[in-house]
Amino acid sequence: MKGIVLAGGKGSRLYPITKAVSKQLLPVYDKPLIYYPLSVLMLAGIREILIISTPEHTPAYESLLGDGSWLGIELRYKVQSAPRGLADAFILGEDFIGNENVALILGDNIFYGQNLTNILQDARKLKKGAVIFGYPVKDARSFGVVEFDEEYRVISIEEKPEKPKSNYAVPGLYFYDNKVVEIAKSIKPSKRQELEITAVNNVYLERGEIKVIPLGRGMAWFDTGTPESLLKAAEYVEAIQLRQGFYIACLEEIAWRRGFINTEQLRAIGEKYNMTEYGQYLLSLANEHN
Ligand code: TTP
Repeated sequence: MKGIVLAGGKGSRLYPITKAVSKQLLPVYDKPLIYYPLSVLMLAGIREILIISTPEHTPAYESLLGDGSWLGIELRYKVQSAPRGLADAFILGEDFIGNENVALILGDNIFYGQNLTNILQDARKLKKGAVIFGYPVKDARSFGVVEFDEEYRVISIEEKPEKPKSNYAVPGLYFYDNKVVEIAKSIKPSKRQELEITAVNNVYLERGEIKVIPLGRGMAWFDTGTPESLLKAAEYVEAIQLRQGFYIACLEEIAWRRGFINTEQLRAIGEKYNMTEYGQYLLSLANEHN
């Protein structure tokens, strides 16, 4: 399975912060925002990942993350010349996806919590159709909303409904079979002139090929598109890391635990950054397993 991180967009809700800087490069406590969605794909065991961003900002992602070899993964980059919508990822990514299945995560979405790795590995087993997630929220009116039956088959997906049919929002993480490329090419732009991911999901729904995985109360999900949500996410990361001592979205740790890099490689990165707590954390992991 291939993975795509969509890290372009306008970031207009974060102006003026995003006037010169890409949203997904902004810090969430101690690391750039894009580390968080990237960590989710790595936890799913996906090692070939395409990062899509704007013409101005793609070079910055390349200098931040390189070819991925330091994490034992393969990273590639693709420019999106204009924010044509989330489903554009599959058109831009057609060659990269080839004949495999693909997971898409939005560059400003953060997931963390109990059982996340198992949930992701389950979603990854998908052979045919699509898997989306449902996250319980108090007021679903500002989200994509999914309604489903007892067998987790999707009944409806609605974008920002006035009267939500469930309290499950659809977060920015989706798993698809290879047909998604053709489907993305077949849908028409919406009123706001974007290729909507909901339109793609509705094609799978018409075919009876979309399932939802509900996320429980042990899971945190943040969409960091506004100043308030960005700060809330940073506070959450700080609280967990300081209180529990576990790092959220530490890419080197994930790469090492999954066997993408060895202890010596982990230690070398830790030594390079040992003036920071982040570097010391990597060293403590490497030393524990001496
Ligand atoms: P949004 O938050 O919907 O849009 P945005 O980032 O442009 O922000 P704003 O609404 O404040 O203007 O996008 C969700 C994610 O998808 C975000 O990480 C940016 C990314 N994205 C793209 O890379 N290309 C696109 O065409 C769109 C619409 C979004």
